Amino acid sequence: MTEQQTGKHPLLRLDGVSVNVGGTTVCHEVSIAVREGETHVLLGHNGSGKSSLLNAIMGTGPFQVSSGRIEFAGIDITEASVTERARLGLGMAAQRPPQLPGVTVAKLAHAIGRDEHLQAAAETMRLGQLVPRDVNVGFSGGETKRWEVMKLLLQQPTLCLFDEPESGVDLEHVAVVGKAIRGLLDTPTADGRPRGALIITHTGFILDHLDTAIGHTMTDGRIVETGDAHSMFERMRRQGFAA
Ligand SMILES: Nc1ncnc2c1ncn2[C@@H]1O[C@H](COP(=O)(O)OP(=O)(O)OP(=O)(O)O)[C@@H](O)[C@H]1O
Ligand SMILES: [Mg+2]
Repeated sequence: MTEQQTGKHPLLRLDGVSVNVGGTTVCHEVSIAVREGETHVLLGHNGSGKSSLLNAIMGTGPFQVSSGRIEFAGIDITEASVTERARLGLGMAAQRPPQLPGVTVAKLAHAIGRDEHLQAAAETMRLGQLVPRDVNVGFSGGETKRWEVMKLLLQQPTLCLFDEPESGVDLEHVAVVGKAIRGLLDTPTADGRPRGALIITHTGFILDHLDTAIGHTMTDGRIVETGDAHSMFERMRRQGFAA
């Protein structure tokens, strides 16, 4: 049995990761470990570096890891392409995903070999009307966010990254998003391993759907506090973010 199969390694290990974009370091020496079965929540002010960190983990956008190391299940992915990361089992619901003119939702599901899951995923997210449409082209703000979650229901990543999946989603559908994320995280992978997640949220909505979660507060690109997400979020509601 390999080390990976024993679960000895965390699903995701960030070891002193600094992220550079546009000539500026926006994340400083971030160290986080997400183990199988764990959900981590990332809190912090606008512009504190949360999305930059998620993009650096997924390998998307102009974000460069200037120091430190990113591992997925013990494999160094710091320099891996986004395709390699996706194939290994990482997936991200982005804050501002790209439009894909000419690629319908149905075509994308087919391209990743998930035709048979398309209808169920669309029903779960109440997005059947989007199936024949081009990905993110003309989707409303809330439809875009729900589609990003639906994309992960199709992709079934082992490590699920969500960047404000509730942002701009109406109250009724926030519950749909929360239940869908919980359902995905509660379902083991095809080879029977528990998944893990790192979720950015400003509203804390996802905590209503999780019994336990580990919280991290990011300030100016640094993790300044880690602890029980529910109590951290409650305190943040009353007093604001930790300094
Ligand atoms: N492509 C880019 N070029 C230049 N600066 C960038 C780029 N992307 C992000 N930044 C800057 O990096 C900093 C962190 O941005 P980031 O999007 O990671 O913040 P965030 O914590 O996700 O904020 P929010 O809660 O508003 O989504 C900001 O000052 C932002 O302007
Ligand atoms: Mg962001």
